[in-house]
Amino acid sequence: MLELKSLKKSYVQGKETIEIFEDLNFTLEEGQRVAIMGKSGSGKSTFLSLVSGIIKADGGSISLKGVSYNDLEESEINDFRATNIGFVFQNFHLVSYLNALENVMLPAKVCNISKPKEKAIELLTSVGLSHRLDHLPSQLSGGEKQRVAIARALIHNPKIILADEPSGNLDEETGNAVMDKLFELIKKNGTTLILVTHSKDVAKRCEKTYELVLGNLNQC
Ligand SMILES: Nc1ncnc2c1ncn2[C@@H]1O[C@H](COP(=O)(O)OP(=O)(O)OP(=O)(O)O)[C@@H](O)[C@H]1O
Ligand SMILES: [Mg+2]
Repeated sequence: MLELKSLKKSYVQGKETIEIFEDLNFTLEEGQRVAIMGKSGSGKSTFLSLVSGIIKADGGSISLKGVSYNDLEESEINDFRATNIGFVFQNFHLVSYLNALENVMLPAKVCNISKPKEKAIELLTSVGLSHRLDHLPSQLSGGEKQRVAIARALIHNPKIILADEPSGNLDEETGNAVMDKLFELIKKNGTTLILVTHSKDVAKRCEKTYELVLGNLNQC
């Protein structure tokens, strides 16, 4: 399903080069659900951005569903991502001028999914936001924005969901309810999941947990 070989990534900031991955190898089977933990700044969000093709590696290869990103032009990667990947960003990335319902409908429209409005309303209802459909992101609380982001990641039935601390902004009760819903939906659809979290309880919901240390993913 997902294979990373000898992946390299560093950031250049002024005169400093920040090495994140020097030789990362990782594989994931279809339908597996894994958690990734690790200290702040260890490179977890960078890892998800690489897997989604949002940022480019400096070396090595990533292939998802047998498609190597090295063989794709940028526009092809964007299309591939829109069809196959659902992303829940650490800082939501909701479109500020679209309301909750329109934000959730966006991937469905890009992928030409039928009945986007009905599906978006169903998903927003399932995360407890049926009363906030017409709110803009600036009119939603942090936890509500996070739930909109989760609904948006699920609407086009992606093969894989990449979630960056999806319950990090929620109180425990809401966080558990949103995680219950996320896991219910991905189990029903057989969706593969990579979940970045700082919570051991959230990680326990996954089949495997890895810790990102010094550019390596070590199974816990
Ligand atoms: N675009 C960038 N340019 C320069 N440095 C960056 C950039 N993005 C991230 N970094 C640095 O790379 C390191 C890894 O960042 P990343 O966001 O992947 O960490 P993280 O493990 O997700 O942390 P957190 O748990 O705090 O979200 C950090 O030290 C960060 O400052
Ligand atoms: Mg992060």
